[in-house]
Amino acid sequence: MVYHIPWIYTPVRSVLAIWHQLTKAEIPELAKCSVLMRDRSRVEDTIGAMQRAGAGRLQVISDFDMTLTRFAHNGKRVPTTHNILGHRLLIDEDCSKKIRELLNTYYPIEIDAGRTAEDKLPLMVEWWTQVHELLIQQRIRKDLLAQAVKESSAMLREGYKVFFDRLTEQQVPLLIFSAGVGDVLEEVIRQNNVFHPNVHIISNYMDFDQTGVLRAFKGQLIHTFNKREGALSHASGLRVLQGRPNVLLLGDSLGDLTMADGVSEHQNILTIGFLNDQMDERKELYVKSFDVVLVKDETMEVPNAILKCITSSTDNQLDA
Ligand code: TMP
Ligand code: MG
Repeated sequence: MVYHIPWIYTPVRSVLAIWHQLTKAEIPELAKCSVLMRDRSRVEDTIGAMQRAGAGRLQVISDFDMTLTRFAHNGKRVPTTHNILGHRLLIDEDCSKKIRELLNTYYPIEIDAGRTAEDKLPLMVEWWTQVHELLIQQRIRKDLLAQAVKESSAMLREGYKVFFDRLTEQQVPLLIFSAGVGDVLEEVIRQNNVFHPNVHIISNYMDFDQTGVLRAFKGQLIHTFNKREGALSHASGLRVLQGRPNVLLLGDSLGDLTMADGVSEHQNILTIGFLNDQMDERKELYVKSFDVVLVKDETMEVPNAILKCITSSTDNQLDA
């Protein structure tokens, strides 16, 4: 009985400390100068704990626009799912102009480090509602979506294939939680050949009439700052995510941090934030809020390295 021999505490603690040190995650990619961490040691401990639990206890929750897709390429902004709908095949020039104007008005508010999420919330509802109204007025045709995506400059981050394929191989569910447009999102990942069976999506889906013309958006509106409600009402009910208390969360907005709020009895959550824009103004806030911050990094290199480390024990089992 350990209780009666207190002298044993010290050696036991030392052995545990050495064991933790030995099993600590070693990820050279975390030393890149684009990676910022509030507490590197905690990040490594969390990854180590997730690795010991293995792929069978893991789920990945990711935002889509500007997280799984690139922010910019060759100096040009990569379109979000909403912006892909700006294609001339789907909407007229006047509508496209109005949607761009709304983007120019509201996007700076979305990323404004000087405003609180509560402050931004009604303005985001205003933005999304106006854009969805405009899209409905255009009577968008479902059968033209695939072509619009094909002709757009939509682009997933470099290394996306390794990310999606690894999760599929390891049978880890990937929940994509997006305030974008679900139908467009699905088409983007389908055309990139990564819409695997382990991918689950929560997003704003279009409602088409019998002739395939857009007449509404389904369900409750999802915008950047109400993902918590979606997490509690939808994500928490997904059976494939149950029994997976370790979460790797990826996002580019502070609102994305609430995407794991529906995970009951979570054990370890590691959050990775892409800081794409307004770096100087937002750096401090991002480092405070996310465990790992990737500054102006258009690749999946760091998430892939973390994922490889977490799932490496399963590799060993498969090799044995
Ligand atoms: P996400 O949740 O997948 O990141 O999608 C939401 C992003 O979409 C958010 O950052 C703002 C962006 N957005 C546009 O680019 N255009 C629009 O018209 C709207 C309503 C949102
Ligand atoms: Mg995003």
